[in-house]
Formats: sequence, structure tokens, C-alpha cells
Amino acid sequence: LPFTVPLHLPSRLFTLRLPAHRGARGYRAALCTQLAQPLLVQDLPAPRLLPCQVRVRVHYCGLNFADILACRGLYQEKHTPPFTPGEVIGVSGISAMAEECIVDEKALWQIPENVSSEDAAVLPVAYGTAWLALHHRAHLQPRETVLVTAGAGATGLAIIDLAVSVFQAKVIGAAGSDPKCQLILANGASHAVNYSQTSLREQVTALTGGRGVNVAIEAVGGDIFKAALQSLAWEGRIVVMGFAGGKIPSIPANLLLLKNVSAMGVYWGRYQQEDFPLFSSAMSSLLQYCQEGKIHPHIGTVFKLEEVNEAFNHVLQRKSTGKVIISMK
Ligand SMILES: NC(=O)c1ccc[n+]([C@@H]2O[C@H](COP(=O)([O-])OP(=O)(O)OC[C@H]3O[C@@H](n4cnc5c(N)ncnc54)[C@H](OP(=O)(O)O)[C@@H]3O)[C@@H](O)[C@H]2O)c1
Repeated sequence: LPFTVPLHLPSRLFTLRLPAHRGARGYRAALCTQLAQPLLVQDLPAPRLLPCQVRVRVHYCGLNFADILACRGLYQEKHTPPFTPGEVIGVSGISAMAEECIVDEKALWQIPENVSSEDAAVLPVAYGTAWLALHHRAHLQPRETVLVTAGAGATGLAIIDLAVSVFQAKVIGAAGSDPKCQLILANGASHAVNYSQTSLREQVTALTGGRGVNVAIEAVGGDIFKAALQSLAWEGRIVVMGFAGGKIPSIPANLLLLKNVSAMGVYWGRYQQEDFPLFSSAMSSLLQYCQEGKIHPHIGTVFKLEEVNEAFNHVLQRKSTGKVIISMK
């Protein structure tokens, strides 16, 4: 790769760094030294590179719900402190919330010229998960109707964008406040439901003329999951994406039988190990959609590296909309 080619990794963006400075100086990184405690921003020594690794300078790093869970010891993949959160495609799942990180060369995708660094930082996790959920798991078809919960969040808005702009589907977005519902509508959904104030199931039933939705992408868990499952149409598909509300729901099997519906999961990061060609083709497709102006990543707030704990709280307190990113500049 040429020297100044901008590169992006899942949820972050990098510029390739010259090998000559290898190990020459340290770099600032957000460090989780103890689980469930605030992160510390510290200087770290630059590690030596192994063969096939690339040292990259991070410009922006997407903050993911998974990063917050990992720093609390609640994520399915456990890390032992001290570690730097931030998922990195192809390597370790951590270490990107820093001025530098080291990445396997296989896990680098070139950012097209007309795609901004900030937009590139949104694509991997939010849009990658959305693409896998809608296309690979739920096999969404044109003119089908999609319900998405936490619809004003990073992945929620990516699902709306892809479903409407790429898959020509209709979307009902659901979220926990009226301003979030306004944002959902402004980003292309046909309808928005505030599940903090109304019954999600009743609203979806009314909005679909009693038929229900063909696909539900569910990110909250608990009672919201159950309402989404009950909102499916005949032969509907529900994709379990996350449990932002903290409660992992159970599925009454009779609900699957009654309307011939399917329940399935999506776990973006796992595709990297299990099906890299698919993982990589999703990245390439998303970069192309972005370059062609078909999709428009929504960045909610940009925090500086020193504000990483404020960024975590912003998401945990449900204040965030769209993607929260950490800037190293
Ligand atoms: N499976 C995968 O590969 C994958 C990939 C990406 C994300 N995810 C998961 O999908 C979910 C959303 O991720 P995201 O990155 O889009 O997150 P996000 O932008 O931070 O959105 C999270 C949203 O979840 C809702 N929420 C409901 N109860 C909550 C609570 N008790 N605490 C915090 N938030 C709560 C909030 O929206 P409302 O106020 O509108 O309810 C909040 O804005 C997370 O559970 C994440 O782990 C999974």
C-alpha cells in the first residue's frame, strides 16, 4: 500500500504509518486498567511489529456498545485488564482507541477518495452488522417491511439507511423518545414508534393493517424483544442483534410455530473468523455504497480521546443518536 493511503478498519480510520518510525516513540491510548472503572488515557510504548502486521495511525475510532460492555466485563468476549478498547477488524477485537494500533494487513480496507474519515469509521460495525442482519440472515426482499428497535442508535440508523436505500424495503423504526422518533423519520423510515410511551406490538399491528412486519431486527431485549416477536407477519424473521436494555429474553417456541416464523441471531465479529470472504465482501459493498452516495452514515457526537469516559456515559445514559466516534486529533 502506498504511504499516505487512508485506511479504515471496522469502526475506525487510519492512515498508514512509515515503518521507519517503528517503535521510536510512544502513543496515547485509552486504557481499561480495571473492569467497571473509568478508563485512563496514558502514554504507551510502541510495540514491535510482527511479520504481516501494519502500524496505523488512528484518526477516528467508532465507539461501540460492545466496547462499553467489554470494559465492564459483560461482553461475550472477555479481556483481561489492562487493555485498550476498540474493535479492530482482523486482529484482536480491542486496541483501537489510541493514536496508534497494529493490524494484520489482511484486515485493512482502502477508503475511497470521496468517503470521509468520519463516515468510514461508522461503516464496519454499524453498517456491517446491519448488512449481515438484513441481507445474509433475514434475506430481506424489496417491498418487505422491517421493524428495527433502538432505531435511532448507531446500528438502528444504519439498518434504516440500508433497508430503504439499498434493499428498497419499508421501515418502522422504534425508539425510547419522541426526538429519537423524529430522527428515525428524518432518516427514511416510514413510521416511528416510541416504545417508552406506547405498546410496540399494538402500534406495529395498526401501522401494518394487522399483517405485522416481515423482518424485525431487535437490539434491546426484554419485553421489547417479545413485542417485536409478536409483531411478525406470517413467515416473518426476527434477528437477535443485542441486549442494550440488559435483559436477555427467552423465546416461547409456540410463537414460532403459530405463524411459521423464524428466530435467528447475528454476530458481526464472528464472521471475521468463520467466513472471512463474506465479512470482507460486506465491507467492500458498504464502501462502494458510501462512495456512490447510496448510504449516508449518521454521526451523532464526536468526543476527544481524553473524553472517552464521557462518551461511554453518553451512550449508557441513552443520550446518543447515530454513531459516537472518538477523535484522536
Ligand atoms: N450482534 C452484533 O454483531 C452487534 C453489532 C452492533 C451492535 N450490537 C448490539 O446492538 C445494540 C445497539 O448497538 P448500537 O451500537 O447501535 O448502540 P447505540 O447506538 O449506543 O444504541 C443503544 C440504544 O439502545 C437503547 N437502549 C435501551 N435500553 C437501554 C439501556 N438500558 N441502556 C442503554 N441503551 C439502551 C437506547 O435507545 P432507545 O433510548 O431508543 O431505547 C440506546 O440509544 C447493542 O446491544 C449492541 O451490543 C450487536
